[in-house]
Amino acid sequence: MSFTGNVALVTGASRGIGAAVAKALAARGAAVAVNYFGSEEAAHNVVTKIQAAGGRAMAVKADARDRAQVEIMAATVKAQFGPVGILVLNASIGFPMAGILEYPWEAFQAKLLGELGAAFHGCRAVAPQMLERKGGSIVAITSGLARNPGWGFCAHSAAKAGLEGFVRALAFELGPMGIRVNSVAPGLTLTDATANIPDKHKQAAAVHAPLRRNGEAKDVAEAVVGLLQAGFVTGATLPVNGGGYVF
Ligand SMILES: NC(=O)c1ccc[n+]([C@@H]2O[C@H](COP(=O)([O-])OP(=O)(O)OC[C@H]3O[C@@H](n4cnc5c(N)ncnc54)[C@H](OP(=O)(O)O)[C@@H]3O)[C@@H](O)[C@H]2O)c1
Repeated sequence: MSFTGNVALVTGASRGIGAAVAKALAARGAAVAVNYFGSEEAAHNVVTKIQAAGGRAMAVKADARDRAQVEIMAATVKAQFGPVGILVLNASIGFPMAGILEYPWEAFQAKLLGELGAAFHGCRAVAPQMLERKGGSIVAITSGLARNPGWGFCAHSAAKAGLEGFVRALAFELGPMGIRVNSVAPGLTLTDATANIPDKHKQAAAVHAPLRRNGEAKDVAEAVVGLLQAGFVTGATLPVNGGGYVF
């Protein structure tokens, strides 16, 4: 299925999984808004690569956690490309790793508010544009850690589990209006976010996975494309982990 004629907004698309998703959607014909926060040059590099391959893209700066900035971003994209029909909630909201006995409450709050705020603001800003188009599709990037715990990840697990719940709630509410809402739950994926994980942990994850390797950003992008193409699927969470976790 081609996305030609559609407009996609990918949050946190300057690097990693978001950049791979932006390129995959553009390669299938969508006009893609590449959202970034701090990495302006990287975002423009993604846009340049898409355009060099014959695609349409623009870079747009916004802090995904900030409602006003997200609303301006959505309006900017609409003005340049038309109403958004595809929204990928990918922006990576940082968090410290610590056990629950030491976890700073302020950091826990910031992670939950940031992760869920970014999803809320993105959907609130873009859903009206999808209604204008008489349909749309939203994919949130959650995490295998929403369901499978790991030491130090209590805030991340709670935030991503909340995001999964939000996705199902929106699927229920927006389905009758022609908007599908799904999530992709990656396992360990080789990006900047995981660059500091020791090799022995990466190898252990690879050995544990039936497909015997770590995930790459393009693996997640393929899954996002698949969910966007699956016209009768909504409220679903698709694990992308080489079979490494049992859901
Ligand atoms: N990598 C993994 O193993 C893994 C596993 C499961 C789930 N995930 C999820 O996958 C998503 C992408 O992760 P990644 O590994 O690709 O991360 P990454 O390589 O570190 O890239 C993070 C991206 O998020 C953007 N970002 C960060 N804060 C932002 C903000 N406030 N507003 C807008 N954009 C913001 C960054 O933009 P700037 O650089 O421009 O600030 C960057 O483009 C995240 O939601 C993450 O939780 C990752």
